[in-house]
Amino acid sequence: MSGHGTPIPMIAHRSCGLKGTAEVPGDKSISHRSLILGAMAVGETVVTGLLEGQDVLDTAKAMQAFGAEVTRDEDGTWHIHGVGVGGFAEPDQVIDCGNSGTGVRLIMGAMATSPVTATFTGDASLNKRPMARVTDPLALFGTQAVGRAGGRLPMTIVGAADPLPVRYTVPVPSAQVKSAVLLAGLNAPGQTIVIEQEATRDHTERMLEGFGATITTEVTDEGRVITLQGQPELQPQTIAVPRDPSSAAFPVCAALITEGSDILVPNIGLNPTRAGLFTTLREMGADLIYENEREEGGEPVADLRARFSPDLKGIDVPPERAASMIDEYPVLSAVAAYAEGQTVMRGVKELRVKESDRIEAMATGLRANGIEVEEGEDWWIVHGKGFGNVTGGATCASHLDHRIAMSFLVLGLASNAPIRVDDGGPIATSFPIFEGLMADLGADIRREG
Ligand code: S3P
Repeated sequence: MSGHGTPIPMIAHRSCGLKGTAEVPGDKSISHRSLILGAMAVGETVVTGLLEGQDVLDTAKAMQAFGAEVTRDEDGTWHIHGVGVGGFAEPDQVIDCGNSGTGVRLIMGAMATSPVTATFTGDASLNKRPMARVTDPLALFGTQAVGRAGGRLPMTIVGAADPLPVRYTVPVPSAQVKSAVLLAGLNAPGQTIVIEQEATRDHTERMLEGFGATITTEVTDEGRVITLQGQPELQPQTIAVPRDPSSAAFPVCAALITEGSDILVPNIGLNPTRAGLFTTLREMGADLIYENEREEGGEPVADLRARFSPDLKGIDVPPERAASMIDEYPVLSAVAAYAEGQTVMRGVKELRVKESDRIEAMATGLRANGIEVEEGEDWWIVHGKGFGNVTGGATCASHLDHRIAMSFLVLGLASNAPIRVDDGGPIATSFPIFEGLMADLGADIRREG
């Protein structure tokens, strides 16, 4: 389990000429949903390209605990024999979701309207994160939750035996909350309606439609009104998971800041609710090109080419773009250090409740490496030093957060002195092949000792 092992200190040294093809792993959001929806369908769902990071493996184990059969072929094809909507069995042990907020929140939603009880726990990072944002709307279905102070894990969820359908406006921009309510709505009679004021990633809606549910989205004055017809029989699917744009962000950003680089990330998901980082980087002057744009399995995909971009400029990132790049602000802040001028990031309060407080974690490490950062509750500003002027030389804490660890390692690929990360272990939660992939491109990232 992530976060339970011995720390793995890692050091990034100045590199140049990153070249080649970066075959980043499958999309984490789509991978979790493939397993959960596969477990709620009747029959066999087949998944290729599944992310085999610890977060997703924990979700696979959880689906087995709820009664689905989940197997993996030697070639990496996954098979999920679902138990049908409302068919979950009661797990006979505690469900450990490791480091994964997405895993635990989606699974809580999926089981919330079945007459079973389950207890959830996670690692030290997950057990600090707020769960009331999910258990509050689940209570409207008739689901009960008992957890630690502040709505923290470990937590027991008692599924509603006679669930009511729900109409719920999500108070924070969160695809996890939206998805938990929709998954709970699957086993409630009638229509469950979820309203979000800001568009967040819509994989759950797209995939529910693919699995045969009746689901519509209407854009109104209230926001996006998503209406799901309850108690469908979900049809098993064959899913090819696109590569994760949030993982692609690391080699792409590394290429932009290292002299002479030119890399290609084939087949990455470019769902507009996920692609905000690439828009932002282009506005900063990054040499980024989408090639071969197409649609696969209901998701837009393309091949992304990224080249060294020595003349990056800091920009004001529009706050309305935040949801579409929420996981990418840490690595954006690393790139912003190499830009001329300031990069202003507003409307990003959610960064404070991720695997770590990501504003605090990045600001501390950036300052230690000679970069000036200002911050408030829901904003931060990175004062760029320009290419060639980032001092580096410090150790940064990863705080059990994969994206913090990878962002500082990217930062260290163009700093004057190497940058050390105290623990690269958490990288395995989302990007288990990070070290090998970066080494193959020519990046000098080493384990200490
Ligand atoms: C995710 C939603 C986002 C994101 C997370 C994955 C999802 O979280 O940060 O990495 O798959 O639904 P929030 O819903 O908390 O914004």
